[in-house]
Amino acid sequence: MFDLRSFAELRATEYGYLDENHHIYLDHTGAGLPARSQVHAQAHRITADCYGNPHSENPTSAASEALVARARAAVLRHFNADPAEYAAIFTANATGALRLVGEAYPFSRRTRLVLPIDNHNSVNGLREYARSRGARAVYVPLEGPGLRVADSALYAALGGRGVLGGRHRGLLAFPAQSNFTGVQHPLEWIAAAHAHGYDVLLDAAAYAPANRLDLSRVRPDFTAISWYKVFGYPTGIGCLIARREALARLRRPWRTMVVPRSANCRRAAMSPAPVAGSRPEVGSSRNRTRGRVRSSTAMLARLRSPPLSEPTVAGRAR
Ligand SMILES: Cc1ncc(COP(=O)(O)O)c(C=O)c1O
Repeated sequence: MFDLRSFAELRATEYGYLDENHHIYLDHTGAGLPARSQVHAQAHRITADCYGNPHSENPTSAASEALVARARAAVLRHFNADPAEYAAIFTANATGALRLVGEAYPFSRRTRLVLPIDNHNSVNGLREYARSRGARAVYVPLEGPGLRVADSALYAALGGRGVLGGRHRGLLAFPAQSNFTGVQHPLEWIAAAHAHGYDVLLDAAAYAPANRLDLSRVRPDFTAISWYKVFGYPTGIGCLIARREALARLRRPWRTMVVPRSANCRRAAMSPAPVAGSRPEVGSSRNRTRGRVRSSTAMLARLRSPPLSEPTVAGRAR
């Protein structure tokens, strides 16, 4: 129940910087504000211990690996995503997550990319990856003053002529909440797109801050999250939550930060070392270099922030 007194108290203690600086904050695109206790806890955390680069075996490195693994587990719990079915891959932001999919999705002349017209620009950027591999980008228009997409228009785009039948006909990419119109599109589109043979990339960047996304009920192949939009702080971290089965079908055009056991530059060959305490991030290709998705050192200072490092992540999001 809404309690005006405790709300005023919360505002004064945790968000006092609003009144102190005469701000009125209107959030219309899912961008949370940081609580003061959250930032203080983060400052304490990063000054209270020593964490190293997570790719080694020394104690500070192992401590970092353990934190990253905890953050990953907390993220999956928050979205009710079974770790046997989903992997969480940390990125610099939602745009980084979207780009990971764009650059590695197996677009071809026989597939298409279907996009409602109210996608964020970072999603629209996927069409360049699609076009460069011969796939057609198909836009679905908005209708009426409500700025919604008619189901019939979406299904027509998914089923249009020139697309092969069967599975893996292409990718539908849409925002669970559009930052452009504020509209929340039906998550039922996910199952419908699967039935049409499409993979689904759900942009949940604006949706996740104020809505519960349950990945045991809806099963997008790829979901992009922006953590600064959920918590207001830390900036500079997002993630891709991907179904392992779909991840295994991505083709990474380049690789970095795979921890090598051995490498041969002449033959461009590398055998990766297993990552301590983690499952392979791609379902079927167990620990093979090709399938591993890790683009850089995880942003440790940011992962140590309480929302992502404590098991209370679910309780923090509004
Ligand atoms: C719907 C939507 N998608 C993507 C993004 C991009 O997020 P990021 O800044 O984390 O890359 C935003 C940011 O506002 C957004 O609202």
